[in-house]
Amino acid sequence: MSVRNVAPGVLSVGAIDWDRRLFDDLIPLPEGTTYNAFLVRGSEKVALIDAVDTTMEMAFMTNLIRAEADQIDYIVVNHAEQDHSGLLPLLLEMYGSAVVITNKTCKDLLISFHGIPEERIQVVGDHDTLSLGDRTLEFLITPWVHWPDTMLTFLREERVLFSCDLFGSHLATSDLFLRDQVEWHRAAKRYYAEIMMPFRNSIKGYLEKVRGLEPRLICPSHGPLYDDPSVVLTVYDDWVSDEVKNEVVIAYASMHGSTRAMVDLLVNSLIDRGVRVRQFHLPSTDLGDLAMALVDPATIVIAAPTVLFGPHPTTVTAAYLINALKPKAKFATVIASYGWGGKTVETLKGMLNHLKVEFLEPIEAKGYPSPEAQEAIRVLADTIRDRHAAATTDYIEPA
Ligand code: FEO
Repeated sequence: MSVRNVAPGVLSVGAIDWDRRLFDDLIPLPEGTTYNAFLVRGSEKVALIDAVDTTMEMAFMTNLIRAEADQIDYIVVNHAEQDHSGLLPLLLEMYGSAVVITNKTCKDLLISFHGIPEERIQVVGDHDTLSLGDRTLEFLITPWVHWPDTMLTFLREERVLFSCDLFGSHLATSDLFLRDQVEWHRAAKRYYAEIMMPFRNSIKGYLEKVRGLEPRLICPSHGPLYDDPSVVLTVYDDWVSDEVKNEVVIAYASMHGSTRAMVDLLVNSLIDRGVRVRQFHLPSTDLGDLAMALVDPATIVIAAPTVLFGPHPTTVTAAYLINALKPKAKFATVIASYGWGGKTVETLKGMLNHLKVEFLEPIEAKGYPSPEAQEAIRVLADTIRDRHAAATTDYIEPA
């Protein structure tokens, strides 16, 4: 572990977790992660901005010793989730006079999660400031990126924005600042898809708020820091915009080949019509990859065989995930096969009720797709092509 200079008076004291492979027992972390924390020294007071996951206790404590953090007056908690607040009880024991600085919603969560004594917490509101002497921290209350308690902290004199989870990436890297754009872009998009995408509309407003600060550095709590904030702000502009791409994501499972035959025909028909396709075999797909693929496409298709009387369980998981992540797709549908009956289409369609989409005519095949079912699939491909030609800017009619 190492302590590194971020800006004058600002040290990085967080930890790199190269080996973590799962977050929340849900989100795959193929590239590990970092938990970033920062020590800000003013002429009179010292503030710690966020902390790290409890699994990184030794590394974090070592960094605080190396940073000679004998005294901490304020511990700023931008967000109560335990990967940043887990060590707060220990920190409050170590630094007996330290005061926790956070917002009202976060305060309630810290008390619920960790039993932090109320008298050790000072509540701040939007644009409130805290003087460290020759340094000033300003707090911006930004709910729902990605919890109701989230806030940002801005170090005015150095124009450093500590953005907590916003703009983060689950990427273990020795680069303090972003240097490998290819590696970072994939990790940042995955992170956005898994964590921030449901809050796309809130983030649109926060991007303006952040730009208004004219930050010199943006320091999220996961992944590399940004010494050129325009890089991350530009990709976020694209991801949160209402613009969708000429692309269909097809998430499918198939038990005996009937659904697979429907998917193959749909994929080939779409390709013939100039529509880009990304196909995901759900039983063998990393759900993080599927989430990332949902950021841009105009259309989402779930293709499901019927198990007993309803959809294959992997397609239920996918539908739940898609509905929860609320991608900006404008069109969706379900194609399904069955042996003797069931409510596969009805069930999956009902599970996508949070999407603001036009639900295209679903298709059901009894067993292997009949000539009628195959024709319905070609008609569906025509419909998707027509919708994309009207709703996207990157559709190009094939020669
Ligand atoms: Fe990195 Fe929402 O915690």
